[in-house]
Amino acid sequence: MSAPRRLRLGVLVSGTGRTLENFAALSRSGLLRGEVVLVISSSRTAYALERAALLGLPALALAPRSFPSEAAFAAEVFRRLEKERVDLALLAGFLARLPIARGWRGRVMNIHPALLPGFGGKGFYGLRVHEAVRAAGVKVSGCTVHFADDEYDHGPIILQRTVPVSFEDSAEDIAHRVFEKEKTAYPEAVNLYAAERLLHADGRVQVLP
Ligand code: GRF
Repeated sequence: MSAPRRLRLGVLVSGTGRTLENFAALSRSGLLRGEVVLVISSSRTAYALERAALLGLPALALAPRSFPSEAAFAAEVFRRLEKERVDLALLAGFLARLPIARGWRGRVMNIHPALLPGFGGKGFYGLRVHEAVRAAGVKVSGCTVHFADDEYDHGPIILQRTVPVSFEDSAEDIAHRVFEKEKTAYPEAVNLYAAERLLHADGRVQVLP
């Protein structure tokens, strides 16, 4: 087994950038085997851009609507990632659909704040996910880290972490509990990738010991 290397990470955001901040903090403390070399926001007004500036991270905005097509938008996203020699792209609250470019399958991860394949797909973002979880009356929820494919919240699952859900919980309560799990689950998946411990087979991911 080769020694874990330090990855060049590209983080794609649309929202507040809490996940980005978590990656930056863990990278600086040496707990993440990678460093954030580029932040791309799908919105010019996302707070994540301000957060990136505060963290001293290089960032830019690419709005899908300013491109003639989704394919043109995706081409520019991957061109920027390649220009910065990004090894692994991390969707971190990124709300635009991103058809995965050639050579990038298995190199783009996403985290979703529920246990996929439930409570995911188009329209399932933010508090809506946790409202749906609450309405369904399920007793556990959690987060899912997966390799992204061309569909929303879809692709080979890397790891999942669960949290209990009780009858009294509000959607905000569930969101808070799930996000606490996300803060360790997503970095753990990145570290497994850096250690070359993620093996793809038949649309599934085997985590090597
Ligand atoms: C997280 O809940 C994650 O599961 C989802 O987006 C949220 C993070 O967004 N994909 P942000 O980091 O607060 O912008």
